[in-house]
Amino acid sequence: MKDNLACADAANNVDRANNAEANAQAMVARAQNDFLHDLHQGLSAPHKRISPKYFYDVQGSALFDRICTLPEYYPTRTELALLQRYAPDMAAHMGAQAEVVEFGAGSLHKVRLLLDAMDEPRRYIPIDISGAHLNGAARGLRQDYPGLLVEPLVADYTQDFTLPPALPTAGKRVGFFPGSTLGNFEPQEALRFLHQCAHTLQGGALILGADLVKSPDVLHAAYNDAQGVTAAFNRNVMVRANRELGANFMVHDFAHSAFYNAPLRRIEMHLMSTRQQTVRVGDSTFSFAQGETLHTENSYKFTVEGLHQLALQAGLKPGPFWTDPEQQFCLLWLDAPPSRNQA
Ligand code: TRP
Repeated sequence: MKDNLACADAANNVDRANNAEANAQAMVARAQNDFLHDLHQGLSAPHKRISPKYFYDVQGSALFDRICTLPEYYPTRTELALLQRYAPDMAAHMGAQAEVVEFGAGSLHKVRLLLDAMDEPRRYIPIDISGAHLNGAARGLRQDYPGLLVEPLVADYTQDFTLPPALPTAGKRVGFFPGSTLGNFEPQEALRFLHQCAHTLQGGALILGADLVKSPDVLHAAYNDAQGVTAAFNRNVMVRANRELGANFMVHDFAHSAFYNAPLRRIEMHLMSTRQQTVRVGDSTFSFAQGETLHTENSYKFTVEGLHQLALQAGLKPGPFWTDPEQQFCLLWLDAPPSRNQA
């Protein structure tokens, strides 16, 4: 009997493992379908474009981590210094037993500075589109913070997603959105995202990191590093299309092009065809004229006043903000008012 039970258990475990494997495969298939669909659409548009979310496979995430340590790329070290200096202030606003939800969490470096300053952080929910990268980083964090519940969520946080329900006796739910990723959205999408935050973080708050408007030279250098890491990151979207979708981009016939568009207050990143060429993706072919670009990303730059206006429009209430002496970068506290039935 016991043997039979053990046998049934083993069979159940095999079933579960097979299910998990099938689920993982289904997720990969869906992701590839989306990529193919979006790439087709983007290459068919009059101004060719692709969403920056497709930069982030394992290699793209690793390249991104290297960008963050480049001498020209001031945002990461400026934001880290702000966190180092002001995390105790932020933690005081968060209160005891708070939980942190991080959007586009990546390698989970920045949140450590918050967690270290917080009074008994209750739970940390990092959300990221790159599952393998996220789960690896979550394992590392669990080792370093044994008392902390770490519940990674593999999801596209620009779409709808469901957060686990609040834990009993938990403190505030505080969103963390560093890195000026908000600037990679179009203004309409940024507003939509903040709206969604106002809703999902009701009764809590959002800590938002944003890169500020500054000298075009400084901005230009940050996205045109001497070692060409940003260029490799930019090209990774084509590398991925070749590997995952069987496309045939001649990656080195596309030049990295990043420049500051001052009237629109944004860095634009493109891949520029250095010659007339044709690219096959699935059953379709797309032609590029010499000098024609695939627009891969924008990085909008902000003012504190502009961000406060945007926040108010989204139903968030501006609180304190922290910035460096040169006003290169800014972290803002935005309250998400409780819903009326909660209040
Ligand atoms: N959001 C940051 C920025 O816009 C980081 C970033 C996203 C980035 N994509 C990038 C940096 C591409 C360099 C290149 O600066």
